Amino acid sequence: MHMRLKRTHYCGLITEKDLDKKVVIAGWVQGKRDHGGLIFLDLRDRYGIVQVVFDFQGNASFFKQAEKLRPEYVLAIKGTIKRRSPETVNPNIATGKLEVLAEDMEIYNSSLTPPFYIEDGIDTDENLRLKYRFLDLRRFEMQRSLEIRHKTMMSVRRFLDERGFWEIETPMLTRSTPEGARDFLVPSRTSPGSFFALPQSPQLFKQLLMTSGVEKYFQITRCFRDEDLRADRQPEFTQIDIEMSFCTSRDVIIETEELVSCLFKEVLHKEIDIPLEIITYKEAMERFGSDKPDTRFDMEIGDISEIAGESEFRVFKNVLKKDGVVKGLNVRGCGHFSRKELDDLTELVKSWGTAGLAWIILEEDGFRTPISKFFTSSQLSAIKARMQGKPGDLLLFVADQWEVALKVLGQLRIFLAKRLGLVPENEDHFLWVVDFPLLAYDSEEKRYVANHHPFTAPFTEDLDLLEKDPLAVRSQAYDLVYNGVEIAGGSIRVHKKEVQEKIFNMLGMNAAEAEERFGFFLNAFEYGIPPHGGIAFGLDRLVMLMAGKKSIRDVIPFPKTAGGTCLLTGAPAPILPKQLKELHISTSLRKNKKEKSAAPDSFTKNT
Ligand code: AMO
Ligand code: AMP
Repeated sequence: MHMRLKRTHYCGLITEKDLDKKVVIAGWVQGKRDHGGLIFLDLRDRYGIVQVVFDFQGNASFFKQAEKLRPEYVLAIKGTIKRRSPETVNPNIATGKLEVLAEDMEIYNSSLTPPFYIEDGIDTDENLRLKYRFLDLRRFEMQRSLEIRHKTMMSVRRFLDERGFWEIETPMLTRSTPEGARDFLVPSRTSPGSFFALPQSPQLFKQLLMTSGVEKYFQITRCFRDEDLRADRQPEFTQIDIEMSFCTSRDVIIETEELVSCLFKEVLHKEIDIPLEIITYKEAMERFGSDKPDTRFDMEIGDISEIAGESEFRVFKNVLKKDGVVKGLNVRGCGHFSRKELDDLTELVKSWGTAGLAWIILEEDGFRTPISKFFTSSQLSAIKARMQGKPGDLLLFVADQWEVALKVLGQLRIFLAKRLGLVPENEDHFLWVVDFPLLAYDSEEKRYVANHHPFTAPFTEDLDLLEKDPLAVRSQAYDLVYNGVEIAGGSIRVHKKEVQEKIFNMLGMNAAEAEERFGFFLNAFEYGIPPHGGIAFGLDRLVMLMAGKKSIRDVIPFPKTAGGTCLLTGAPAPILPKQLKELHISTSLRKNKKEKSAAPDSFTKNT
């Protein structure tokens, strides 16, 4: 179909300068008000909304047509820009003082009544929004997220290009790379019984590119991880992946900070103070009980182990005897919490894996606490001083092993800060967390696992500890944290074969197994692999925070549900028996009901 009317202006961009001009605008009907002889129509395009007026007196012929228009009809209007009379001005939209007096119209399509309002701030069930994602994306707040995402990617590319980085694509069909999640697998038709894995990240390829002398690489690329989903995780997500040769962690950190600062300036017109604060993993845990602390508010964790050790409180003393700690929070001004509220908090921390919660309320002339009989008054005063307590404050304590006690208090800190409204909404807090332990112990699997991934370099001075005290080995890894969310992580890599083999060994992979899985990679170590390191941003998480959204689903055009499915397309879906056969696969779960489908298998020419 031809378009008779050719668009000259965008609805949302009409300004006073266009007064009395004849224009053609196109878009979707946002709404319609029928005032007898006058019809007011709001027409929407990507840039905004403008009011269109149909006057029965002026042009009766298509006034009749206008009466039939319904929301989301898509059309073009020809008309003249006029000033609205003062009483009809709409201060809520940019074009609110103007309107288009319609003279001609071309209707391109009608629309069913949409299942939800096409407007910002709707509280529609997210599943319905996902099913009708093409309508959901018509809403301005979603369009703004798409725009921020686009602008961010453009800025990244410009910035890194100017710094000499090359964008290089790496395969999507590849071998499994261990980033700690389960792989998504793709069966091979031509190698029966064998599978490709979709990349969990381009980690090995970017390291190989350094071996190839590329020096500076980046890629904005999709990664696939089959893991349990949360608000900030998707099975396929996008990374800004970066790698450099002959660099120290300092170099990567500086380059990354300058990139973030550039993005904020270009996309959000905000200044960020760099260099950013850097703290060690140990300090992050000790102060905030998290390796990705939200530093927009205080409420730091305090330690009363020493004082607790002198008390008569059996619960604390038993934990301390087993090398545990007693740590606590000062919840300022919350001495008014009721017994019920304190019991609820106790149940909450128990559900997070510790035995209980001890509390002390600081009063003007003393202490209120169920454990007072186990402490002398000077011990209570010492606790008060250690926790910098004032009358009216609530002190909460957890006694447990170092990591458990701190993690529980870290979660409690976030929980209470949200509940008490202590988290400032419009602040941007960044910090680096560095010097993570190289390894962690997986008590279920009874073996060591890499904290980041197996290619992360240990501190050279800690290499000796690898066998003696593996958990004490620090890694040259760094995470960038933004408002309590890990938005990027990376490290300096191992570039010595013997170190890489040693680490594989620590992770429970003997030489033969390492050769079998990573032979192609270890091979490169024999041919001059340079010292190198890099980082990867979670683009979705970064854009989510930049756009002020609560979920990464709001900044991914077509995301999966928390259950890992696509409600728009119905993926994943059963496939035809013929396809399974070609792939040499039989599933044990279900027989395909439709043995024969009437639809053709392919809609394009076979090549
Ligand atoms: P890592 O596994 O830490 O590092 O991933 C880098 C960043 O990607 C984001 N991210 C995710 N975002 C959404 N959904 C997910 N399921 C998801 N998983 C991770 C996070 C994270 O900081 N190859 C290394 C990087 C390197 O060492 O250079 C890697 O992938 O924001
Ligand atoms: P119990 O002796 O188990 O009845 O506990 C006495 C008080 O200490 C209760 O208020 C418990 O919630 C609290 N409590 C128990 N275990 C811990 C712990 N590991 N850390 C902090 N408080 C605890």
